[in-house]
Amino acid sequence: MNVAVIGTGYVGLTTGTALAYLGHRVTCVDKDTAKLELLCRGRSTVHEQGLEELMALSGRNLSFARQTQEAVKDADVILVAVGTPQKSNGEANTQNVEAAAREVAEGLEKGRLYCLAVKSTVPVGTERQVSQVVRRVLDARGVEDKTTVMVVSNPEFLREGRALHCTFYPDRIVVGAEQPEDADMLRRLYQRILEQSFDPPPFLPRPGGYNLPTLVSTDPTSAEMIKYASNAFLSLKISFINEIAGLCEKVGADVTEVARGVGLDPRIGPGFLAAGLGWGGSCFPKDTAALLAIAEEHAYTMPIAAASREVNFRQRYRVVEKLQETLKGVRGRLIGVLGLAFKPATDDVRESPALDVVRILVERGARVRVHDPVAMDNGRRALEGLEVEFFRDPYTLASGAEALVLATEWPQYRHLDLARLAGMMRTPVLLDGRNLIDPEEARRAGWTYMGTGRWV
Ligand SMILES: NC(=O)c1ccc[n+]([C@@H]2O[C@H](COP(=O)([O-])OP(=O)(O)OC[C@H]3O[C@@H](n4cnc5c(N)ncnc54)[C@H](O)[C@@H]3O)[C@@H](O)[C@H]2O)c1
Repeated sequence: MNVAVIGTGYVGLTTGTALAYLGHRVTCVDKDTAKLELLCRGRSTVHEQGLEELMALSGRNLSFARQTQEAVKDADVILVAVGTPQKSNGEANTQNVEAAAREVAEGLEKGRLYCLAVKSTVPVGTERQVSQVVRRVLDARGVEDKTTVMVVSNPEFLREGRALHCTFYPDRIVVGAEQPEDADMLRRLYQRILEQSFDPPPFLPRPGGYNLPTLVSTDPTSAEMIKYASNAFLSLKISFINEIAGLCEKVGADVTEVARGVGLDPRIGPGFLAAGLGWGGSCFPKDTAALLAIAEEHAYTMPIAAASREVNFRQRYRVVEKLQETLKGVRGRLIGVLGLAFKPATDDVRESPALDVVRILVERGARVRVHDPVAMDNGRRALEGLEVEFFRDPYTLASGAEALVLATEWPQYRHLDLARLAGMMRTPVLLDGRNLIDPEEARRAGWTYMGTGRWV
């Protein structure tokens, strides 16, 4: 099929490249010319494992363009994957989606059939809004009755850091369409994924025991709600274990043991039970805020979703408070923060808990040094204007420091030489915000170790 993907961020570039690899002819569009320039040279604009290799493997099936109007002309399916950032009142800003829909409609040809799928995470009712935008533009062009556009909702569930894995081996594909037959184009688009009838990329073998994904064909509003409910539930799981972690610290239990025991119950499951600094990134914070905004619009309260956010953001302060207690204040102290990305395997720092910890520390008068294996550039941009020193090497960062905060669970931090690192410190205080380091090992290496929910 001919496919146009509008927006080449984490979602658009991953999806477009995967579909090109599967044999579709894909044009990825972005209005950011700097991004386009890199993409046209075969370089990925996001740090996502395997993406650049897959772009190369996709060969001529994958191309890039600046103009949506041009790219959609020959398309059968158009996927909208533009950003939907949070507004100040918590709502998701759908301006990019509406603009993209307008630009798409301006390029559609008379007499053709198109499927326009919204992949961006959008408030319920957006599919209707997009349909209206498209109809208005087609009407103004005088082609409304001669062009058929099926607008469907196709929420995305990929996880940054594992984006290609999630795309080739999804748990489910959700399609929300007014008429069930409107989902057929997407069924065809994803057929090879649904049937797993493709040769896996050499670096991404099909996981053993992987079951074929379910196509959840539903109405658009339910599809839009599935996305928000999924993220709200996952974020809730993490906040729940963080709440338990706080009590573990009071009573002397180890939350990693508690999570293991709890997660073995198949009704609960082991995922998303890691206590620590809490969730961040471009999805959970904004999607939970958007869910609450939708509820408010309907005069409905959602105390569970609200509490999940409250517990989450409190974690960032708790880390600093523990440091203040141990160091007897952080003002004037030299503190190193390991990790800036909101989670490992990505360079994304949007809403990263690590950045908030840095900001709170600076606010409270600490001198802060930071390190991240891949997110230094994005971190530098996000922390612009703040007095923070960036280090390329954790050992140099530790030199003379009075405490280290481990803020992102990069696997390379697990392999740090703890004794050498402790030897560089003025006072070897380690606040493990991700429970990555073995407490006993850290103590043997000379650290005063504090984890999350295991501060015994
Ligand atoms: N990142 C994730 O892990 C993830 C997962 C699931 C869903 N989502 C959702 O998918 C959407 C995209 O997320 P992302 O992280 O890929 O965003 P992103 O910010 O990384 O990328 C969005 C891209 O869209 C481009 N863009 C904006 N308006 C445009 C327009 N009119 N025409 C062409 N290009 C345009 C921007 O230049 C940018 O490159 C969001 O709604 C997000 O909530 C994201």
